[in-house]
Parts: sequence; C-alpha cells; structure tokens
Amino acid sequence: MSNNSSNNSNNNNCSNNDSSSNNSNNNIIQPDQYGRRLKYLRISVTPACNFKCIYCKPHTENSMSLAGEKILSYDDILFVSEVFAGLGVNRLRVTGGEPLVRKDIVPFLSKLSAINGIEEVMITTNGSLLTKYSDDLLKAGVSRLNISLDTLNAERFNYIAGTNTNMFNDTMAGIRTAIRTDFKQVKINAVMIKGFNDDELLDFVNFAAEENIIMRFIEFMPVGNHDLWSKENIITSDMILKQLAHLNPQQLQKDKNTGPAVNYKLSNGATIGIITPITKHFCDDCDKVRLTYDGYIRSCLLDDREIDINDAIKSRDTNMLIECIKEALAIKSKEYDKNSVEVKNGYNRTMSRIGG
Ligand code: 5AD
Ligand code: SF4
Repeated sequence: MSNNSSNNSNNNNCSNNDSSSNNSNNNIIQPDQYGRRLKYLRISVTPACNFKCIYCKPHTENSMSLAGEKILSYDDILFVSEVFAGLGVNRLRVTGGEPLVRKDIVPFLSKLSAINGIEEVMITTNGSLLTKYSDDLLKAGVSRLNISLDTLNAERFNYIAGTNTNMFNDTMAGIRTAIRTDFKQVKINAVMIKGFNDDELLDFVNFAAEENIIMRFIEFMPVGNHDLWSKENIITSDMILKQLAHLNPQQLQKDKNTGPAVNYKLSNGATIGIITPITKHFCDDCDKVRLTYDGYIRSCLLDDREIDINDAIKSRDTNMLIECIKEALAIKSKEYDKNSVEVKNGYNRTMSRIGG
C-alpha cells in the first residue's frame, strides 16, 4: 500500500516538445495557472528512519530496511536540484524518513548549498542525531532546522516514536545542541493528537519561551497510519487558540520563512506557529513541490498524482526534466481535494515516504 506510488504516477517521458526550453538558464519558470511561482523544493533523501512515529506509518514497517527500495544517488539528486535552481527555485529542504541516517549526508549537503542560485538549504529531522551533526550541518551550509518533537515526556516519547531505547534523551540533547549552534532558525514541530499529547500544549508553549524557539503545532493529517487517524482526534487551530486565550495570542505578519504556518506571539514570550492542513488550506501561496527518494515529483502532499522523472535522471536530460517539472506544475491543483482528507483510507505513500 505504501510503496506503490507508480500506480498513480503520470508515467510518461515528459517528452520535450517545446523548443523554447533548450537552454535551462533562460528558463525561469512562469507562475502556474493559479499565479503561484515555484521557489521551493523539498527533497526526500531516504525512506529510512530510526523512529517509527505512531502517526507516520504502520509500526509493522521495518523503518531502517532499504531492501527492495529504489533510491536516487546523491549525484542524481544534485542533477535534479541544479535543474530546479536553473528554473528559479532558491530554497531546498532535505527530508526523509530521517535524512541524517543516510550515509555521507554532510558532503552531499555541502554540494547542495554550493548550487548556483540556492539561497537556503534547510533540513527536517527527528533531532536524535543532532548532537553529532549540528556543527557539521552548519559548516555544510544548512541554515534552518525543523525538528519534530511530539512530547516532552520520556515514557510517552518512546510510545509515540516507537523507540524502545532511551532516544528521548538523545533527542532533547540534540535539540539543545542545535539551539546553541549558530543556525538562522530552529523550529520544533509537534503533531497534536487528541488523547496522545494534547494535554502538553502549555508545556510546549513554556518550552518555546524558555528556549526562545518557534514551536509549531500541526493538525493531524491522514497521511501515514490510517488506523490511528480520525476526524475526531484532530486538534484544530481553533482549539489551540482557545486553550491559549489567556496568553493573548497576537497574530504575526508572514514572511518567506513562515511557510504554511500562521505565527502568534504569546504574552509569556513564546512564538508559536499553527499549521492547518485540515481546517484552513494554504494552497493559494504554495510555492513548493516535492522530490521523492525514488525519483518522482509530487506536486502536492495531499495528492497522489506524481510525475516519474527516472528516465530524465538516468539520461541526464535537462530538457526532458524541465518538461516533467512543467507537467508537475500543470497538474498542481488550485487546492487539494477536501474529500481526500475526509476518507480514512488515506494516501498511497506514508509520510515517511514523502517527507512531510
Ligand atoms: N500529520 C501531520 N504531520 C505529520 N508529520 C508526520 N506525519 C504527520 C501526519 N500524519 C510531520 C512530522 C514532521 C513533519 C515532516 O511532518 O512530525 O514534523
Ligand atoms: Fe521518522 Fe519523522 Fe516519520 Fe517519525 S515522523 S517515523 S521521525 S519520518
């Protein structure tokens, strides 16, 4: 179920029938049919992860096994990233699975940062390896980190993250190391789920104030463990703001690093962000697409249609790849199909195979 993306892919060769695209440097991509300009590529470098978060994928999946998986090489990903950069993309976010479990990730990140036109390389990680990697990531040019942390309680952490060793301590130490490292920004992401961690909202807010980081709350999406997801256990933005009303949330202006979140300043000094894929879509100013670890462009997290770019990658055919990217943008919907998040059978790929 989770690894059959090709069932929904537009598996053509994206043949180059547009003679104007012969020179990628002259190819700054036009806004799509809804006026959105592509600026941001999310790159999943591996489906492997040293965690098994309960909401992310079924616990039966062996998170670290890559047996039978097709994984793009770093050179493949660099080729694709260079073509995207030639089209005007200036921000890259590296995701997984857990990107830091892939071998030789640091030299790869240095090469990504060196691509002409790339202004920021960012990473989304579960934080467990940051004590080891923070300094190297900074040196490799990574500017911003998003770290997933769904609880501040050790026992609960092991339950939610599916870890049986004491990964909680490693993760908290990793987060603190990252905060002390000179990144432009460190954000913490928590997926809020009724009955799992919604009683920790205030603890998170206090943590954000103490550590001076942005704490973001994400509404639970049906991408991942379909058995756990239900409309009833989503903690919505309205619920969060109601619970925090005594801290007088003041909405902040968006900037290009706010992403899909709406940020608020609270009277205890904390800055929080709320991401509302379920209750209020943010498709109007979506500037991104995703590259999967197995060579597909996914235009929207919540849409299983993908463009297969493996032929273009294998033949290092820039023009074919540009046609594929244009096709991916042409099928990017104005907004995602609301019905698709109403149903319980979810999507073809689990979150660990998309990268958030
Ligand atoms: N709903 C919402 N967010 C999710 N994430 C993973 N699975 C889900 C889900 N079903 C989050 C992770 C991480 C980011 C990449 O996506 O916690 O912070
Ligand atoms: Fe791994 Fe992130 Fe999925 Fe957790 S949410 S299992 S850390 S990929």
